Formats: sequence, structure tokens, C-alpha cells
Amino acid sequence: EIMHHVKGLNYMEEEVKRLIGCKEVVVVPGNSSEYEEIKENIGKAAVDVLLKHIKDNTIIALTGGSTVYNVVKSLNNKPNTSYENVLVVPARGSLRNNVEYQANTIVSKLARKLNGDYELLNIPDNLSKKALDSVRKEPEIEQTISNILKANIILFGIGNAYEMAGRRNLPEPVMDFLHRRQAVAEALGYYFNKNGEIVYTSRSIGIKLEHMTKTPYPIAVAGGAKKAEAIMAVKNIIKNGSLIIDEDAANRIIEIM
Ligand code: G3H
Repeated sequence: EIMHHVKGLNYMEEEVKRLIGCKEVVVVPGNSSEYEEIKENIGKAAVDVLLKHIKDNTIIALTGGSTVYNVVKSLNNKPNTSYENVLVVPARGSLRNNVEYQANTIVSKLARKLNGDYELLNIPDNLSKKALDSVRKEPEIEQTISNILKANIILFGIGNAYEMAGRRNLPEPVMDFLHRRQAVAEALGYYFNKNGEIVYTSRSIGIKLEHMTKTPYPIAVAGGAKKAEAIMAVKNIIKNGSLIIDEDAANRIIEIM
């Protein structure tokens, strides 16, 4: 019975890997949108993937969100291996998550657990474009951005477009715009339609999508059947890396593709 189940998960991993065309897919049993502990299991599985890719001098950039939070939470305080000179940075400036799930918060936690350094993007939410452009030129921010662009690993969550827009309290006209453009996914501050085209970009600084297809190894984490469409929409940015999802998301992906 148990073996059969494991075999089922392996099949799903292979299928999703084929559909996305990425290097690795890990599927954990269960449904994380119903059971919080399944999100922890996604976190644990992602830790194994993450640790395989960290070396001395690695720069890790990460986003906020509850799933990435669970990755860092699952990491033992003293992992068996130790690394020299690891740097952790947020992938982008604040995108309005609650404090616990903000990239800056998770960055400092991960750095502490890896005995590494960290740099933050302490930028208020809601800055005007003009203010943001001038903040970008602050030497400290410039320094952090240059490290973000040198990141070797990008750990990020994938969200449902409207859910993320709602969580971030985006103004009504933007919500309407997302509807008109048929946004389905959000990742790294970008909103995508189901063809993977960017339909809206959050006003924030940090990693740009064009960097994702170059050096960094992407590690994406997401769970729940309702994220299946979003995961497929961002498959281009997962292509060179790993995807860690739950059984429900995997089932739905296989169903809709
Ligand atoms: O960009 C998407 C979000 O980071 C996903 O957040 O993991 O809390 O669903 P979540």
C-alpha cells in the first residue's frame, strides 16, 4: 500500500517534470491548502534541494510568502554541512507581505541558520516611481542590488494572481487591469497570464526576470490545486531548476495539461 503510494508520487514527479521541462520536481504527499503541516513538508523537501546547491561563496536570493517561510523554518539550526561566506539577500524589495512572511525577515533567519551574512532591502512600501528611482541610487541599496544580480540560487514562491494582488492590497484600477489582462500567476513581483506573458510588474526593485534565465539556479515552492495554473504559467522561469509542490498541485497540473 505504502509502496504503491510512493510509486504514484514518483510517477507524478516525472509527469510534472516533463510538462514543465525543468531539472527536478519533488512532490510531497497531501494538500497544503487544507493542512498546514503539508506546507511544512514542502519546506522540508525544499531544504534538501537547497542544501544540494549551496557551496562556499554562494549568494542566495529569496522572496517572501508563507511557503518560502516554511522552507527556512524547516532548516535545522545547524545543518550538517557548513559553508564559508554564504550571503543571503531578498530577491526584491518589499511587496507588502505581513512581517513574518516578508523577504527581509526570512533572509535574516536563513543567514543565521547558515552562519552566513545577509543584506536587506529596507525600502518602504508604496513609494512613488520617482522616490524609488532615487532610492535605487543609494550606495547601500546599489550594493545589495549588485549582489542580488550575482545570486547563484533564487528561492521563490508562486502565487495565484488575484490572491496575491488582494493580499498586497493593490488598488482597484490595478485589480481591474489584472482581470482584463487575465493574469493567473504571480512570482517575483511579476504577474503572468496563462501563456507566461508578463501582464503587470510590481513597483519594486531587485531581481529582474531577464536575470532568471541566466546564472541563478531557481528553486520554486508552491502547494495546493488552486496554484496549478499559476505554476504552469511560470514554467519558463523554473526551467533551469527545481520545483517542489504537493500532491494536489501535481494532480491538477497533470489534469489540466
Ligand atoms: O509570490 C508568491 C507568493 O510568494 C506565494 O505566497 O507561499 O504564501 O502562497 P505563499
